[in-house]
Amino acid sequence: PIDLALPELALVALIGASSSGKSSFAARHFLPSEVLSSDAFRALVSDDENSLEATADAFDSLFYVAGKRLSRGRLTVIDATSVRPNDRQKLVDLARAHDVLPVAIVLDLPRSTLEARHAARPDRDFPAAVIVRQMTELRRTLRGLGKEGFRHVWVLRSETEVNTATVRRVP
Ligand code: CTP
Ligand code: MG
Repeated sequence: PIDLALPELALVALIGASSSGKSSFAARHFLPSEVLSSDAFRALVSDDENSLEATADAFDSLFYVAGKRLSRGRLTVIDATSVRPNDRQKLVDLARAHDVLPVAIVLDLPRSTLEARHAARPDRDFPAAVIVRQMTELRRTLRGLGKEGFRHVWVLRSETEVNTATVRRVP
């Protein structure tokens, strides 16, 4: 099993295409208050967690809260796809601004798994092609995560790896 030994104070980026299982993983391993989800912030600012038009306001709000948490010394998990280097760079910069270690947990599951999950979801009405695009962008840029500034990068590539992974916090 993959052992995720997180620094006690970290900015944890949960990275993966839609339906890769980020929110499920977050709910299983972290306190609800530790997890800042882009969809939850979309809902907070617009009443619609799927509103793409609300993305800028949602991320402004998410970063504001994340910054407050990090300056208070609280481990913070960012539940957003973060498949593009630009999206991730903002997370690394935020962590650095608060002298906190940025770490990445990547959920890179097979395309067939993502597509099957997506098809079964009533809460995601966009076409499956969107997910394939996200997955492709992630795989194209995955090797660069260390260079982007993430101090640890864990990549979970199967449902078994996801389900058996253990999360620890090390001082
Ligand atoms: N799911 C599953 N088995 C898992 C994890 C998730 O069947 N081990 C299902 C969930 O029940 C959900 C879907 O897959 O219906 C997507 O999981 P979720 O955790 O919501 O994925 P996210 O990555 O958070 O997707 P999004 O970016 O769209 O929020
Ligand atoms: Mg989610």
